[in-house]
Amino acid sequence: MAKIKTVYVCQNCGVQSAKWVGKCNSCNEWNTYVEEQVGTPEKELTNWRENDSKSPTSKPIRLNEIESNSEKRIVTYDKELNRVLGGGIVYGSLVLIGGEPGIGKSTLMLQLALSSKRLKVLYVSGEESQQQIKMRAQRIGQSSDNCFILAETSTQHIFTQIREIQPDILVIDSIQTLHTPRIESAAGSVSQVRECTAELLKFAKESNTPVFLVGHITKEGSLAGPKVLEHMVDTVLQFEGDRHLAYRILRTVKNRFGSTSELGIYEMQSTGLREVSNPSEILISQREADSPGVAIGASIEGNRPLLIEIQSLVSTASYGTPQRSSTGFDAKRLNMLLAVLEKRGGFRLSSQDVFLNVAGGIKIEEPAIDLAVCASLVSGLHDAPISDKTAFAAEVGLGGEVRAVNRIDNRISEAEKLGFTEIFISKYNMKGLDPKKYEIKIRPFSRLTDVFEELLS
Ligand code: TYD
Ligand code: MG
Repeated sequence: MAKIKTVYVCQNCGVQSAKWVGKCNSCNEWNTYVEEQVGTPEKELTNWRENDSKSPTSKPIRLNEIESNSEKRIVTYDKELNRVLGGGIVYGSLVLIGGEPGIGKSTLMLQLALSSKRLKVLYVSGEESQQQIKMRAQRIGQSSDNCFILAETSTQHIFTQIREIQPDILVIDSIQTLHTPRIESAAGSVSQVRECTAELLKFAKESNTPVFLVGHITKEGSLAGPKVLEHMVDTVLQFEGDRHLAYRILRTVKNRFGSTSELGIYEMQSTGLREVSNPSEILISQREADSPGVAIGASIEGNRPLLIEIQSLVSTASYGTPQRSSTGFDAKRLNMLLAVLEKRGGFRLSSQDVFLNVAGGIKIEEPAIDLAVCASLVSGLHDAPISDKTAFAAEVGLGGEVRAVNRIDNRISEAEKLGFTEIFISKYNMKGLDPKKYEIKIRPFSRLTDVFEELLS
């Protein structure tokens, strides 16, 4: 009998080793090596077609002769999903949706299946029984004659059902529960995840059927399984949000068919996920007038302007080293802005505890909210509320200068639309901007000190 070949595979990054090692040389993680059997190499990928040997071999074609199907997308009822996918589901694409347990991945996929009434959707669940899914569907309150539920984990059986049903969309919940009989290792191991994905990838490309894979993420927040999974799929969407808050954010991490800076926002209700088409409204609606330490920044996520509320609490440090804590905003950038305010603005912040928070559980990486952060900090320090009709959109430089940001007209229009009466921007953004076009008062500044002279006067 041939000896069964095994290797040790790092469950974090997918690197293989002949021997067990405590610390992975590649990703430096400890204790991540697990022994896995290697499939015999002569076995090919389980083919989704019945007849293994007759799978067509591909031939090179001239680029000009290739039919372009870039415009052919399935536009779903879910506008947020369409947006993050770059305008709808691309035929033959493999989409991975990652997120923590309980965030709503299964709900999102079931809603997609139930709302696409004219398309046959096969929803394969390895985690829940058909009855459980039925209960969830009843909760969502939709039904569709074309939604098929299959509780199965073996790819071989799944492909048998696919040939039978011929779905227009395939959903796999989750990729970590699948296993292919070609490989001996346990479901969820790196080799299994990789092989099952490869089989589904082949199916997606050859049949031109879009496939959604639900993937778990680890405690550290990365997708469980090897990085290779992210390389294999066309699109990676991340579902995130605080489980205790109702808002959920669907973020594009990778997309071969569109921009990666898109954002979809949902609210989890008792009847499933609801799209939030005007996020600015919910993000700044719970605001009390005249609260110190609050400033509104005009940010842009993807193609969408988003007004967000920055809150800060500044209080005298009671212990030696003042605390700095930041939620939703880069902590290093916060420290930089504090240093700029101290050095260029003369604000005594070094002896203060500073807590900064972006309301609504949103994470913002754009420097365009720098000015809003600075305004919020100074307002918090002086206990001087900023008018709730004022918005900010500018970057702050190390010299205390107010710098221009991109797409200023979108930001101004959004602030105007939401009823703000003035917006503080950089002087350098005035070029090519016609203030008469807007009703909102545009206030250009070039130095941080001038901004505060205006705000604190
Ligand atoms: P689920 O889709 O099962 O999450 P995942 O597949 O990412 O693990 O979402 C489960 C959570 O969503 C659960 O805590 C209950 C909540 N939920 C609602 O609040 N309303 C609903 O209509 C549904 C279906 C779920
Ligand atoms: Mg689930």
